[in-house]
Amino acid sequence: MNVPLLDLKGQYQSIKKEMDEAIAGVVESQYFILSPEVSSFENEVASYTGVTRGVGVASGTDAIILALKAAGVGEGDKVITTPFTFFATAESISILGAIPVFVDIDPNTYNIDPQKIEELLLQTQKHNDAERKTIKAIIPVHLYGQCADMDPILEIAEKYGLMVIEDCAQAMGAVYKGKKAGSFGLAGAFSFFPSKNLGGFGDGGMVVTSNEELAEMVKKLRVHGSSEQYIHDTIAYNSRLDSLQAAVLRIKLKKLDSWIAARQKIAERYNSAFSGTGIKTPVTGEGNIHTYHQYTIEVPDRDGMLKYLGEKNIGSRIYYPVPMHFQPCYRDLGYKEGDFPVSEKACKSVLSLPVYPELTEEMIEYVIDTVKKF
Ligand SMILES: Cc1ncc(COP(=O)(O)O)c(C=O)c1O
Repeated sequence: MNVPLLDLKGQYQSIKKEMDEAIAGVVESQYFILSPEVSSFENEVASYTGVTRGVGVASGTDAIILALKAAGVGEGDKVITTPFTFFATAESISILGAIPVFVDIDPNTYNIDPQKIEELLLQTQKHNDAERKTIKAIIPVHLYGQCADMDPILEIAEKYGLMVIEDCAQAMGAVYKGKKAGSFGLAGAFSFFPSKNLGGFGDGGMVVTSNEELAEMVKKLRVHGSSEQYIHDTIAYNSRLDSLQAAVLRIKLKKLDSWIAARQKIAERYNSAFSGTGIKTPVTGEGNIHTYHQYTIEVPDRDGMLKYLGEKNIGSRIYYPVPMHFQPCYRDLGYKEGDFPVSEKACKSVLSLPVYPELTEEMIEYVIDTVKKF
């Protein structure tokens, strides 16, 4: 038996006819850039998310960069985020000349710990109020497919006058207290990287927001800072979502809820099979509906299990082995080992298992048996 970590070929086979027709439609039209496919998809994602606007961009990374830039974040500003994320979150802050300020995570959900955000703000304020005021925004990352604890985060943001830009790359469709990921902050940033719950046939991303001004600014930033052809108000980017991607993603969006439901069912199977084994299974935070972009467990001998599963032809992976404050490019930020103990421990003990709709009953059983055997 062979159980890959992800099976995109299987997903494609299940919707091949519709996909091929959609792609052929775009090719026939030869309308590749900012076509009605793109604006229809933007409207569909906005409506799915519960916001008024969606602006398609070239990647999830660009979605964060353009949202931050449109919000006015720039040189010397500070942005609070988690050290336990994919590099793109922190990189997007740095690329604008701003500085990431890390805050440790909750050990159960792996999302940024709101109490620690407030502690950092209070401490900075006590030490130097002017420095506190250089902190402009918070980027909570909805890791593995469940939202960060948004109520206290929004409360803190309001109290200290900070903007909230959600990194929703892993969490399309995730719900927190009745609202979807991307609808809480000033803006949300989605990724359509092929492995995401809603993944394209290449790179893609979207900024979602109910702030018209911000949406218009992102629209301008994605086309060389121009809102009128050949007139450029600002130095910006070429970062558009391709029509081909939009066509593919429009079809997949219609399937997304059923795919999420299938992931949730597999996660439930794993949860009950692993209970009482000493494996720490995913914890769903209060008020959350988890979409299981990843099904991530914690085990004492994580590296041993990774190796064992590999030998048994089961794909598993560490998301993420190195926290942001240990990245070589962030040495100059001055963090040291022990600064974010929860994130550092998670990097040493987490392991993600296969969790996607195309898993067969036999595959699920095989994963369960093999994990338990180890
Ligand atoms: C948490 C997180 N943020 C940002 C990104 C960046 O998205 P992209 O790869 O589409 O640029 C990703 C995914 O790759 C991600 O997982």
